[in-house]
Amino acid sequence: MDDLLRPDTLALHADAAVEPTPDIAPPIHVSTTFAADNDAGLVYARNDQPTRRRLEAVLGALDGGHAVTFASGQAAATAALLHLQPRRVAIAPGGYHGTHAAIDALAPFGVEKVALEADLGPGDVVWLETPKNPTCELQDIAAHVARARPAGARVVVDGTFATPVLQAPLALGADLVYHSMTKFLSGHSDALGGVLVARDPALADGLRATRTVTGGVPGALETWLVLRGVRTLGLRVRQQTATATRLAAFLEPRVARVWHPSLPSHPGHALAKRQMRGPGPILSIELATEAAARALPGTLRLFRDATSLGGVESLVEWRRKQDPHAPPALLRLAVGIEDPEDLERDLARGLDELGGR
Ligand SMILES: Cc1ncc(COP(=O)(O)O)c(C=O)c1O
Repeated sequence: MDDLLRPDTLALHADAAVEPTPDIAPPIHVSTTFAADNDAGLVYARNDQPTRRRLEAVLGALDGGHAVTFASGQAAATAALLHLQPRRVAIAPGGYHGTHAAIDALAPFGVEKVALEADLGPGDVVWLETPKNPTCELQDIAAHVARARPAGARVVVDGTFATPVLQAPLALGADLVYHSMTKFLSGHSDALGGVLVARDPALADGLRATRTVTGGVPGALETWLVLRGVRTLGLRVRQQTATATRLAAFLEPRVARVWHPSLPSHPGHALAKRQMRGPGPILSIELATEAAARALPGTLRLFRDATSLGGVESLVEWRRKQDPHAPPALLRLAVGIEDPEDLERDLARGLDELGGR
């Protein structure tokens, strides 16, 4: 591919050479096995298959590395840990609770979870999640790379909330970027998946070999759905970021606290300007009481009460339902692509209704 192509163009064309075909929309391949000695080098779908090759070409181009896709984000995170076999994983408290569960599950095999700022040694892993679920707090990728590299440790960045549209961890020196494809990359709440993108092609080969052993490959339909969804990633994420920014400003004077990096009151405001190409499409709010936070989703008409994020439809979630460590009065808003004015009116009306109770 032409080195000068920009991400929005790569999302549509980076897979063209993988499978030359007159189809404009990419075909979906469902075969689990392939005729021996074929020119494409295909053998068996757990190792490799053409729709997955196309998706990995696009995701690798977007993050500037080599992509390996998995059946879910969790499958990707677990495969990364199994492959890297760190003695210690340095990670901040909070963030996506499933990542902590994946690290804790490896404790019997000698993997130790340590504080993010702990001393590092060769083979250790620094696991960043930036912006962090659900408060969108940021971690300084370049600073952590500068600390980890001389110690021989590797840096993994969960960039699910930023997507490759807003953040480029590999360009900042990270070894691996991790995304739950279930979220913005697929974009339509209809496919589970995860991806690891490595700067070093040898690391990607190793992760692919681990995936063949663990077997956590995405299915053909899910792979195709993410390939279809990722074509519009830039459009969606820019619109969702603009709407989240508008809603954050609207909500700040009306609720106890708003967590969004667009706001000067957010601890990641300055770093977001340096590290990201926009403050991101997710925001969280804290209401005065837990009771109010539990009640607000029931008053909203456009924001559906559901977990997950990154789809075209707006969702709201009292975060404690999924994550017992989330602040008790916190609601996460996953902004969709509806008209921003309609979303603002929905929230204004819901807050009024709560106030009147
Ligand atoms: C930041 C983050 N990372 C990872 C995951 C895990 O991804 P999946 O649900 O696709 O396994 C999630 C899921 O919510 C997430 O929000």
